[in-house]
Amino acid sequence: MKRTPEPEELMDEADQALAYAQADFSESNELFLELFSRLHPEPFTGRMLDLGCGPADIPLRFARRHPGARIDALDGARAMLDLAQQAIEAEGLEQRIRLHCQYLPATGLAGDYDAVVSNSLLHHLNDPLDLWRTIAACGASGAHVLVMDLLRPDSPERVDALVAQYAADAPEVLRRDFHASLHAAYTLDEVREQLARCDLDSLTVEQVSDRHLAVMGRLP
Ligand SMILES: C[S@@+](CC[C@H](N)C(=O)[O-])C[C@H]1O[C@@H](n2cnc3c(N)ncnc32)[C@H](O)[C@@H]1O
Repeated sequence: MKRTPEPEELMDEADQALAYAQADFSESNELFLELFSRLHPEPFTGRMLDLGCGPADIPLRFARRHPGARIDALDGARAMLDLAQQAIEAEGLEQRIRLHCQYLPATGLAGDYDAVVSNSLLHHLNDPLDLWRTIAACGASGAHVLVMDLLRPDSPERVDALVAQYAADAPEVLRRDFHASLHAAYTLDEVREQLARCDLDSLTVEQVSDRHLAVMGRLP
């Protein structure tokens, strides 16, 4: 199935951000943490950067699981970051999770993060290489990288089946977003080609669920 880009990169509408923040992504977000543990089995005590953090559910889960981690979380949508700030303050974690309102490709970020991660951002970007170039620029040599995203299904029928399976009871705005995201997602081969173009082909790409792919490894 041919890719259809997302209508908008940022999720900056208040109702869209709130519906996203209230949705239950625990299954895929826990999978994300499990994949990180595969990459880094010990407790992580360094500096991590999360690109396209949305309402910060992953930074919060990461901070609970890795009490020594310090996290910078970036998103271009102020509506998402307002919700993220509330959630972080509710847990008293504002000293460990810092939010940055920045649009990718971001400039001026430090280049020495020990880990750079991202969940569900890649398919939003007009130019997917913006993500890979930012990761290469922000991570220290040997930094851990984990990028998870949706995997584009083979057919529109398979998209409809996944929306029915995973978002049957979700609000309409979320069903619409999930449908658009599956159409905008990349295939394994497309992601491998993106990595090769950025000299990041040491990272591995694999399917990790019926609807997700993951890119994992360490920076050169
Ligand atoms: C599907 S959400 C994922 C949020 C979060 N990572 C999660 O897993 O729940 C994608 C996020 O990427 C942000 N985003 C999209 N394009 C961006 C860009 N060019 N720069 C910064 N953030 C962007 C959106 O605003 C949105 O919050």
